[in-house]
Amino acid sequence: MSESAKLTLSGKEVELPLVKGTENEVGIDISKLRGQTGAITLDNGFGNTGSCSSAITYLDGEKGILRYRGYPIEQLCEHSNFLEASYLSIYGELPTLPQYKDWERNITHHTMIREDIKKYWDAWPHTAHPMATLSSVVSALSTFYEDSGDPWDPREVEIAIHRLIAKMPTIAAYAYKKSVGQPKVYPQNKLGYAANFLNMMFSMPTEDYEIDPIVEKALDQLFILHLDHEQNCSTSTVRIVGSSHANLFASVAAGVCALWGPLHGGANQQVLEMLEAIHAAGGNVDQFVARAKDKKDNFRLYGFGHRVYKNFDPRARIIKKTADQVLERLGVNDPLLEIAKKLEEVALSDPYFIERKLYPNVDFYSGILYKAMGFPTKFFTVLFAIGRLPGWIAHWKEMIESPATKIGRPRQIYTGATERPFVPISQR
Ligand code: ACO
Repeated sequence: MSESAKLTLSGKEVELPLVKGTENEVGIDISKLRGQTGAITLDNGFGNTGSCSSAITYLDGEKGILRYRGYPIEQLCEHSNFLEASYLSIYGELPTLPQYKDWERNITHHTMIREDIKKYWDAWPHTAHPMATLSSVVSALSTFYEDSGDPWDPREVEIAIHRLIAKMPTIAAYAYKKSVGQPKVYPQNKLGYAANFLNMMFSMPTEDYEIDPIVEKALDQLFILHLDHEQNCSTSTVRIVGSSHANLFASVAAGVCALWGPLHGGANQQVLEMLEAIHAAGGNVDQFVARAKDKKDNFRLYGFGHRVYKNFDPRARIIKKTADQVLERLGVNDPLLEIAKKLEEVALSDPYFIERKLYPNVDFYSGILYKAMGFPTKFFTVLFAIGRLPGWIAHWKEMIESPATKIGRPRQIYTGATERPFVPISQR
C-alpha cells in the first residue's frame, strides 16, 4: 500500500499522508488539506472522521472486538475488577500489587464529599433528574477543590482523578436518597467500590442491609463493560472541552451531560420506558416493532442498533449471560422481562433488523439488569456515568499529555443567506 493518498480537486493533485494504527487501521491525514486546496472535509456525525490518535481502547465493530489497552473485555470481566481496569485504562498498564493497593487506598480515602456540597440537594426538587444533579455537582467540585484543578500539574491531576472516581458513587447515591426522601448514607471505606455504592443506595438506618455478592459482582462487571468505548459522544465531549484547557472536573461534567441523551447513555432509561409503554398498551410487541419500522413514525426500538457494532455488541453478550444469572438468583418475576425477551426474539428474526444489522446493544440488557437490582429507571444513566468515568479521565489525560493536541474547533460549510442589507423593522 502506498504511504499516501492522492486527491484531485479542480485539476490540482494533492498528496495526503496515511496514518497507520497498531491494528492496521488506516487514516488519511487531511490536516493540511484546507491550506493546500481551500476545501475542507464534511462528515456529519463524524462517522468517518478520526479526531485523534489514541492508545486506550481498540474496537472492531465488524468483528465485535473490544479491548482496553490490548486486554479483551471478556478477560477483564472474568479476572479483573472495576478499580483495576480503571487503573489500566488511565495509566496504560495493569497495576502491580503495591500499585493496586496504593490506588485502592487513594480512591477509598476520598469517598466522602464536603458537607457543604450536600446543601445542593436541599435546593433541587426531589424530582430532579439525577444526571442533571450529577453534572452540576461534578462541575461544582472544581469550586471546592481548586487545589487540584491545574491540568498542567501532574500531582494535582492525580488527586483530581482520585477525587472524581471516589466521589462519583457518593454523589450518585445522594441524588437517589434525595429523590426518595431517605437520609443520605455515608460511604464505608471498608467495602469494595461496587459494594460501597450499593450500601449507600439501598441501606437505611433502620435495618441491616446485606450486600448480595452476585449483585455486587454483576454491578462491578457492568462498570467494567461501560468503562470506555473510544471516541463516543460523551468521551469526544470530554476531550473537546478539555482541549480548551478546562479542568478535569469541568470536562467530566460536560461528559455527563453528553451521556444523558437518549441516543447515547440515556438509551438504557428509554429501554425500560419503552418496555413499560408496551406493557401498558397490552403487551403487543409486534405493534411496536411495526412502528419502529415505519419511516413516518419517529419511534425507534431503544436498545437496538449501534453506530459501530454492526454484527453484535460484545458487551451485550457478556451482560446477557450475567443478566440470566442475576435474574435467576433474585427470582425476579417481572412482566417487563417477558416483553424484553419477546422483543429480542421478534427483532432478531425480522428482515428489517437483520438487513440493517440492528442487534440488541449493551443498553438493552443493562436496563433490564438494573431494574432487577432495584435501581429506579431514572437512575440507569447515572450507573453508566460511574462506569464511563475512568474512560473519560483516561482520554482527558491522554489528550492533555499529547503534544499533538490542539483546541477542538471543527469547520463548517455555510449554507445560510449571502450578504444582504439590513431592513428597518417598519419595512419588514
Ligand atoms: N429502531 C428502528 N430502526 C433503527 C434503529 C432502531 N433502534 N436503529 C437504527 N435504525 C434504522 C434507521 O432508521 C436506519 O434505517 P434506514 O437505513 O432505512 O434509514 C438504519 O437503521 C441505520 O440507522 P442510523 O440511525 O443511520 O444508524 P446510526 O449508526 O446513525 O445510529 C444509533 C446508531 C443512534 C445507536 C441507532 O441505532 C439508534 O437510534 N438506536 C436506538 C438508541 C439506542 O439504543 N442507543 C444506544 C446506543 S449504545 C450506547 O450508547 C452505549
